[in-house]
Amino acid sequence: MLVTGGAGYVGSHCVRHLCEQGFEVAVFDRIEPLGHREAVDSRAVLIEGCLSDHHLVEQTVLGGGFDAVMHFAALAEVGQSVKEPLLYYDNNLAQTVFLLDCMRRADVKRFIFSSTCAVYGVPPSVPIVEDMPKQPISPYGRSKLAVEWTLADCANAWGLGATALRYFNAAGASADGSIGEDHTPESHLIPIVLQVALGQRERVSIFGTDYPTPDGTCVRDYIHVEDLASAHRLALAKLEPGTFSGFNVGTGQGVSVRQIIDTAREVTGHEIPADETERRPGDPPELSADASAIQTALGWRAEWNDIRRTIESAWNWHRSNPRGYGSPEGQ
Ligand code: UFG
Repeated sequence: MLVTGGAGYVGSHCVRHLCEQGFEVAVFDRIEPLGHREAVDSRAVLIEGCLSDHHLVEQTVLGGGFDAVMHFAALAEVGQSVKEPLLYYDNNLAQTVFLLDCMRRADVKRFIFSSTCAVYGVPPSVPIVEDMPKQPISPYGRSKLAVEWTLADCANAWGLGATALRYFNAAGASADGSIGEDHTPESHLIPIVLQVALGQRERVSIFGTDYPTPDGTCVRDYIHVEDLASAHRLALAKLEPGTFSGFNVGTGQGVSVRQIIDTAREVTGHEIPADETERRPGDPPELSADASAIQTALGWRAEWNDIRRTIESAWNWHRSNPRGYGSPEGQ
């Protein structure tokens, strides 16, 4: 199987899971700026390259003898997407279109796509169910939704079997602490909070305390990367040619920014100073998943549904890898 973006955060956890389950995996990743060679399971083959390199993509897909593609490679910063929409439509949409064209020519008809709850925009209510309106509010969300439409049309036109997994907030690290989350720059709440606990940042900013939520801060559904990995494996196992499905992948539990910080204080034993600041533009107040469709269709359910355990797994990795990949403890 070919896994694009398999050196990135979610992709690398999925690759590890697939290798453990006995799959033969080839990872296609450009490494910079989001991937890490050390994150790629040693049982997988690593092809270093960019999806914009049409010659290499063509050569890889047409010559690889793959039976399926899992497509993680993408840009995923909402704020950046607003400033640089073309970067998002190129990386997330145009490069996926070319990848799909190569798959069509190579007769590879199984595709699992990393989508996002951002396709729903600001939902009319929570938890979100799949048939709610798709009204993304950022170029990032729109680039992912455009790929979903493309997949549905390819399913209809040439028999592609495709599943879009709409991740809520990916979180945590592998249970054995061997791989984890390392973005530069880091923008996500849990790693930032843990960097404060490690003394690498002075404080965390709480972006908005006047939301219509129980404690005034934004509520999100933090889904463990190992649960995302099992969702990918099950989605592949149940893939039907000529069909497209999109599933929410979340725990169903909403956790506020304050709850994340308080839980991290308990887990780490550190004070974690926090400032209350302005809202971050584009943040919906509350996002959580109704994940009953994926449970019914694929038999998937979240095993990591206690935020404390999820934060503990992230802390375990951050504490052992304070500077991320490539820098052992204490350096
Ligand atoms: N937050 C803070 N302070 C910080 C960082 C984040 O208060 O320093 C808050 C945010 O405002 C948000 C919550 O913590 O309310 C979570 O923020 P993240 O940046 O960790 O995650 P997002 O919810 O913004 O992003 C996630 C995915 C995106 C996806 C988006 C959909 O990472 O890929 O959900 O809304 F597009």
